[in-house]
Amino acid sequence: MIKTLLVGSGSVGALKPSNIDSMATKNIFTHAHAIKNNPAFELIGIVDKDINKAKKACVKWGVSNYYSDVKEVKEEIDLAVCAVDTKYHAAVMIDLISLKPKRIICEKPCTENLDAFLLVNRLCVEYGIILDVNYNRYFIPELERLQRLLSFSEIQNINVRYCRGFKRDGCHALAFLCGFLGKFKDATFFLTLKQILDNEDDSTISVMLRFEKCDNVIFQGCDGNNFSIFEITILTNNEKISITSHSKYINYSVAKKTEFGNFKALEEVEYKLKTGLNNYLVNLYDSIAKGEVNGTKFIAEDVHIIYKYLGI
Ligand SMILES: NC(=O)c1ccc[n+]([C@@H]2O[C@H](COP(=O)([O-])OP(=O)(O)OC[C@H]3O[C@@H](n4cnc5c(N)ncnc54)[C@H](O)[C@@H]3O)[C@@H](O)[C@H]2O)c1
Repeated sequence: MIKTLLVGSGSVGALKPSNIDSMATKNIFTHAHAIKNNPAFELIGIVDKDINKAKKACVKWGVSNYYSDVKEVKEEIDLAVCAVDTKYHAAVMIDLISLKPKRIICEKPCTENLDAFLLVNRLCVEYGIILDVNYNRYFIPELERLQRLLSFSEIQNINVRYCRGFKRDGCHALAFLCGFLGKFKDATFFLTLKQILDNEDDSTISVMLRFEKCDNVIFQGCDGNNFSIFEITILTNNEKISITSHSKYINYSVAKKTEFGNFKALEEVEYKLKTGLNNYLVNLYDSIAKGEVNGTKFIAEDVHIIYKYLGI
């Protein structure tokens, strides 16, 4: 059994409303639920600086030990999960590293900035701890396969439409793209949608990014107050790939010669390939149970490098 400690019993850690996430729901939207769902893990304790939340989470998920601080934990652990607010990631991670678990999963973006990330990553390497960052598109099999395919493709341009903050929602597209576009080169700001901010410290920006493998990557901020949107369109030299509806579907259209002209038009060859977005936490823990090592900590560093360049 992988002895697991959960730190942070908030929305993604343990305490979503029970009609959305509990032992009775089909979908699994919290770490606590995903850990309890997988027989390879034993959830040995929950830490939250709000002790009432830690207690409530323990009652909800049938866990005995609750704590208000990682420093109170005396048990040996194999795996620690850091699901606290991003601004506290670094401090909590440093405390977790001193417990010497074999592995730590940190929620994205894993610390507030590049320097803090490099520090915790260096400490993990020193202590021989494997670090995973929960950029959840890395735990969806269809998207992993697509990344491998795209790393061999000639890419013309990419367009991302998103809302609810470049860091909060935009980062999932950014992390996905960092998986196959090579080194980040530079970026140009177009617009900051100040009027539609969801979070004070995280703007929904429109920006053009240039990478080793594509000079034409555009993130277009949309007004999330109208409706929520998250979609990525990738044009290669012979196809269009659209990931739509918050990664629910992938659409492939391939260029074919038309019957009526000497040009090629796009023809849809596959439609509505359902991805496992609802299962990303299940996939994450399955992969950890198998001992697989993913590249998410390198992606977290790439994402922080881009944030630093943009000054955000
Ligand atoms: N991967 C994803 O798609 C995804 C989705 C949502 C949130 N997140 C990330 O998860 C993290 C948490 O987000 P959330 O929405 O669950 O936040 P939240 O505010 O609902 O929960 C955070 C919890 O951490 C606790 N906490 C804060 N500092 C602590 C400390 N030092 N020690 C112990 N507990 C502490 C708070 O009391 C709170 O209960 C953030 O980094 C966020 O970016 C990731």
